[in-house]
This record gives sequence, C-alpha cells and structure tokens, in this order.
Amino acid sequence: MNFEKQMKKCLKLALKAEGKTSPNPMVGCVVLDENGNEISTGYHKKCGEKHAEADALSKIETGHTLIVNLEPCSHFGKTPPCADLIIKKGIKRVVIAMRDVNPIVAGNGIKKLKNAGVEVIENVLEKEAKDLNEVFIKNMKENKPFVAIKCATTLDGKISTSTGDSKWITSEKSRHEVQKIRNKYDAILTTSATVIADNPSMNCRLKNSKNLIKIVVDRTLKTDINAKIYSNPKEKVYIAVDENLPMKNVFPPHIEIIKCKTKNNKIDIEDLLTKLYSKGVMSILVESGGTFNGEIIGKNFADKIYQFIAPKILCDNDGKSAYAGQKQLYIKNAFNYKIKSVKSFSPDILITLCKGL
Ligand SMILES: NC(=O)c1ccc[n+]([C@@H]2O[C@H](COP(=O)([O-])OP(=O)(O)OC[C@H]3O[C@@H](n4cnc5c(N)ncnc54)[C@H](OP(=O)(O)O)[C@@H]3O)[C@@H](O)[C@H]2O)c1
Repeated sequence: MNFEKQMKKCLKLALKAEGKTSPNPMVGCVVLDENGNEISTGYHKKCGEKHAEADALSKIETGHTLIVNLEPCSHFGKTPPCADLIIKKGIKRVVIAMRDVNPIVAGNGIKKLKNAGVEVIENVLEKEAKDLNEVFIKNMKENKPFVAIKCATTLDGKISTSTGDSKWITSEKSRHEVQKIRNKYDAILTTSATVIADNPSMNCRLKNSKNLIKIVVDRTLKTDINAKIYSNPKEKVYIAVDENLPMKNVFPPHIEIIKCKTKNNKIDIEDLLTKLYSKGVMSILVESGGTFNGEIIGKNFADKIYQFIAPKILCDNDGKSAYAGQKQLYIKNAFNYKIKSVKSFSPDILITLCKGL
C-alpha cells in the first residue's frame, strides 16, 4: 500500500477550507483501520478550530493508520499537540506528505511519534502538498506575505488601450474565475492610478465569500475617499502612504494608514510587505497596472502570476503593457517564470506561473 489515494483525499479535504485557514496551513486527514478501511476523515476548517488530525480522531475511539498532508504538530498553540493525541488514541502508523516548515514543529512531531513507537512514513505526494500550502511555506520560511499578480491581457500583452479603455478584455467566464482566485487570498492590493482610472470595488462576490482586506498604494493620498474600494465598512482597507506625508485627514474606522519608506517617489514595497505581514496579512493578490506589476517583477516579489489572455490584439504601441518600467535590453536578462498550468475559460486562457526557469 503506498497511501497515495488516501493522501489525495487528504489534499482534497484540506482544500475545502481554502482561503479560510490563514495564517494556518490547509490540512486534511484520513484514518484507516487495521484492514485498510477508511473509518474517519477530518480537515482544519479555520484558524483557531480543531486541527485535521483532531477533527478526524474526535469521531472515533481508535484507529490503525492516520494519513495527513502535514507533519502533526508537537506544541501547544491555539489547540493541544496533535502528536500527543495520535499517540493517546493508539494509532500505529502515520503517513505524512511533508514535514512542517514551522520552526516550532520542523521534525519534532515526527520525533515524538517515533519515540512512542509509531511507524512514520514520509514524503507521500510531497510536491502536491507543498503546492497546496505554498502560502504557509513562504510565510514560515521568509516571514513575508506570499505575493501573486493577477492580470488580464490581450494577446499582445496589453491591459488597456492608449485611451485607458480596459473594459472588458476578458470574458465573463474569466472574470468569474477571478472571483474564485480572490477568495484564496487574505488581501487585494491595487494602486492610486488604478483606483482613479477604473474605480474598482475589488471585492469577492461569490456566495459565502469572505470580506477581503484591501490595500491601496497611494503615496500622496490622491484617491477619492468616496471611491468604491473604500465603501464597505466591513472590509478593512490599508492605504500605503509616504511616511513623510503630513496627515490631517480623519478616516472611518475600517480605513488605516500605513506609513511607508519611499525611494525615488515610490513606496518601498519591501517595507510595505513587512508592515502588512506584521498586521497578519499572509497573502496578497496584486491587481494593478503595468507600472506597479513591473516593480513587483523587477524586485522579485512575485511568487505567482495568474495571467488571463484574451484572443484580442490591439496592435497599439501606446496601449498599456501588463508589465512595464523594467526594460531589459537582452533576452538573457528577462525575468523568468515557470508555467504551472494552462486552463481554458473560453474564449480566453489562464496561464498560472511561479518563480523560476
Ligand atoms: N487588465 C488588468 O488586469 C488591469 C488591472 C489593473 C489595472 N489595469 C489598468 O492599469 C492602468 C493603470 O496602470 P499604470 O501602470 O498607469 O498604474 P499602476 O501600475 O496601477 O500604478 C502605478 C502607481 O502606483 C504608485 N506606486 C507607489 N509605489 C510604487 C512603486 N514602488 N512602484 C510603482 N508604482 C508605485 C504610484 O502612484 P502614487 O505615487 O500615487 O503612489 C504609481 O503612479 C489603468 O488604466 C487600469 O485600467 C488593468
């Protein structure tokens, strides 16, 4: 038995809570009896609630093999250690997809299980498990938010015409998919230029979707406070401004100013990301124009790109490009990304890319 089938089920269970577990990872669990029959399942539904192992084990007295996509925790956090519970419930074998990258756990859960005589099998569907929890891994390893760019372009890479017209480049189907992508992230980030040009709401209109945090990069506070992006008092908005900007404005309680360092009249993105992380923003979807996207790419902040491409061609040198301001004279100096998937949202396609060659 290689447990891949059951691990696939764990990943599927974990995904049920996508967008809801932050700052925690997504975890699913399956328990088998000594004959290999499934006797319980569970998943981590939300930060502060039961871990996947505790959820699955709460439904049974005992079991033989426990399969879980992340190493069971060994420490007291918001809930007691899962490794202790697994031992207490008399589990004989634990199958894990990946070790926990949280330095408090990092192998200690496995050690605890092995010391208690539990057999531990590691690395089952490890790559898939790491993909699933890419945000958590980035947070734990770098203490920084995971950053993704979403853009919608023509076939010639434009996000608007030279007159600024940008509605709509992609189809309704694609735009519905954007709603689903937004729901995976803690926050949406955009810029003063995009708020002024498009007055977007940048919310998630799916049934039961969460209230997203909004971040507006607006160095000199030139956006209109009546813009749609500021209109929902249930949605927290951070406005990133120059730390030296004299502030006399009074904002409603859901709007908070983050004072950032600036360099050459631009917000220092590193400083902004550090400040957002300290406020609990673990993942950010950037939906801005080419100037800001270019900065994110040029400074290597983009962990992922979702690019919707419509089969439309503008043939216009002056139309705005999806990525700008970081001109490279040689192909060898281009910023390289790896294609992870290509999906059809007819008539458009969505290319999802991650860092690397
Ligand atoms: N198709 C799409 O997917 C899509 C998505 C979004 C937007 N758009 C289009 O994009 C257009 C706007 O694009 P754009 O290139 O003019 O503007 P942009 O990239 O949205 O924003 C640029 C602005 O961001 C601010 N900024 C602050 N710190 C920065 C930094 N470190 N690096 C870069 N910018 C920084 C600056 O304004 P401050 O000085 O005020 O801070 C700057 O003018 C709009 O027409 C909109 O329709 C298209």
